[in-house]
Amino acid sequence: MKIWLPIYENGNHLLKLYLPKIKIVMQKQFVAVNYITCTPEYRERFEELFGSRAKAIDLMPGFIDMHVLKPSKEDQDYLIVSYWESEEAFKGWTKSEAFIEGHKRGFADLAKAKAEGKEAPMSSNFQTYKIIAN
Ligand code: HEM
Repeated sequence: MKIWLPIYENGNHLLKLYLPKIKIVMQKQFVAVNYITCTPEYRERFEELFGSRAKAIDLMPGFIDMHVLKPSKEDQDYLIVSYWESEEAFKGWTKSEAFIEGHKRGFADLAKAKAEGKEAPMSSNFQTYKIIAN
């Protein structure tokens, strides 16, 4: 059974409580999606990294939530979807120590492959979005 409890402030949809999960729906959300293509050999390692991610991002001002999406088909991209209060908050994170902290192991893997003259194990391409309906 799904129980949704919407909370409004001045007519604006502020919070949506979903039991047993509590989900926060903020106004003016900004979304950054990083599309990551992994080599077949790297996929397991990639999933391991996210299974124990740094969570440095979780303390960033304006950060709301993130999801890591694994594609149903082996040859498709992973999606790292992050939700922000504003574009400024997202940009602030990309220039922060937390960004470096959150990417230490992944970037080390890329550097290692490069130093050994091997193919990059993954490549990244990000796009940003506004939520216009939910
Ligand atoms: C060369 C570019 C990038 C690559 C190869 C990459 C890959 C990775 C990898 C492998 C991790 C796992 C964490 C670890 O290293 O242990 C990670 C963390 C993360 N990535 Fe990226 N990423 C890149 C840029 C970006 C960008 C531009 C965004 C946002 C649009 C993004 C969003 C995230 C988030 C939200 C996390 C979790 C950070 C944390 O837990 O603090 N990444 N990324």
